[in-house]
Amino acid sequence: MATKPVVYVGMSADLIHPGHINIVQRATELGDVTIGLLTDAAIASYKRLPHMTFEQRREVVANLKGVTRVVAQETLDYVPNLRWLRPDYVVHGDDWQTGVQSQTRQRVIDALAEWNGELVEVPYTQGISSTQLNASVKQVGTTPNVRLSRLRRLLDTKDIVRILEVHSGLTGLIVESTSRLVDGRFEEFDGMWSSSLTDSTARGKPDTEAVDISARLQTVNELFEVTTKPLVFDGDTGGKPEHFPFTVRSLERLGVSAVIIEDKQGLKRNSLFGTDVEQTQAPIEDFCQLVQIGKTSQVTQDFMIIARIESLILDQGMTDAIARAEAYAGAGADAIMIHSRSRDGAEIFEFANRFSRMPKRVPLVVVPTCYHQITETELAEAGVNMVIYANHMLRASYPQMRRVAETILENGRALEADPYLAPIKDALAIIPENAQ
Ligand code: SPV
Ligand code: MG
Repeated sequence: MATKPVVYVGMSADLIHPGHINIVQRATELGDVTIGLLTDAAIASYKRLPHMTFEQRREVVANLKGVTRVVAQETLDYVPNLRWLRPDYVVHGDDWQTGVQSQTRQRVIDALAEWNGELVEVPYTQGISSTQLNASVKQVGTTPNVRLSRLRRLLDTKDIVRILEVHSGLTGLIVESTSRLVDGRFEEFDGMWSSSLTDSTARGKPDTEAVDISARLQTVNELFEVTTKPLVFDGDTGGKPEHFPFTVRSLERLGVSAVIIEDKQGLKRNSLFGTDVEQTQAPIEDFCQLVQIGKTSQVTQDFMIIARIESLILDQGMTDAIARAEAYAGAGADAIMIHSRSRDGAEIFEFANRFSRMPKRVPLVVVPTCYHQITETELAEAGVNMVIYANHMLRASYPQMRRVAETILENGRALEADPYLAPIKDALAIIPENAQ
């Protein structure tokens, strides 16, 4: 009995629409259809993480009419799977002939030529696309659970997770929608950092936990009304151990993905003061206990308690920093943040190097405010898993606002401030709803 030709269809299948059905139908006419389902990591290598997990997407495509089997495609590049399965046909929409995917397409054609396979391209279904659907999904919003679990998924799939500071709905919108095409890949921020420094500064208050948790959660709530990306919350010292469980559960209820608590005690001052002001590091045992309290209080599986080490900020040395990393990870911390105000970043690389050899290796988070010349690629190569740009939206806005205020005073009118201002039209266009 002659076997049916093997037909391979690669897809992400996050938001299935008639375009996908059309492609599968055409593939079914040619033979037995194998779907090469792109893994989260394969998708994240060139665009945003899918809404649904790999398992959820597998369940959907496995049940599409005509699909015989589903295999994982671990890379955007089809070639490894094609060499393994040697299909007679690959079927794809004709929309990849130009743009970011054109190289992927050429590699498919070259690989198929090795065994006389054929690429069949189906005319692109007009009027519907995943990009449009994604935009609509963003408008509808997200749920606390989906948002919360997203950070772990990002950590599992990306070389380095990129987080930007926010302190208002407006800054949240910037993280949500800013995107740049860099070397053929769409780059965007993976999530938001609710900074104690900038949330306090935006309210005209010092970064000493003077802005209480209720007020901080108010900011998070406002951010969550207009965004869908995950948020990492700056939990300062965590407050009184007896109060920490309430903070953890409030954060989870809103859909916050992680809290970072720092190993300081007493009146907390901002780390960037270093040893210029008096600040005390917490004893290792006390802080381990706080981590444990957090871990036992959380109600969701995916919420993360991240332990932040201040040893380098407070000149306590590398040995102390490493000892604390081991102790905190042992106490159950889901990740470690190492803070530093060194300008050359050397101590961060030294820490990362020693950290990578620790028996219990959890993700590593850094905040490159002072060593800002170091690139994400260099950090990722050193083993860093998350980078937080901790204060940049606030620092961007302040000088400009100050300058405009001074210019109005100098001129007794606003005309001269125009070069520093967004035209009214642009200011209105910031809010998506205004454009409708
Ligand atoms: C913050 O952003 O509030 C932080 C990071 O805690 S730092 O300001 O560098 O201490
Ligand atoms: Mg802070």
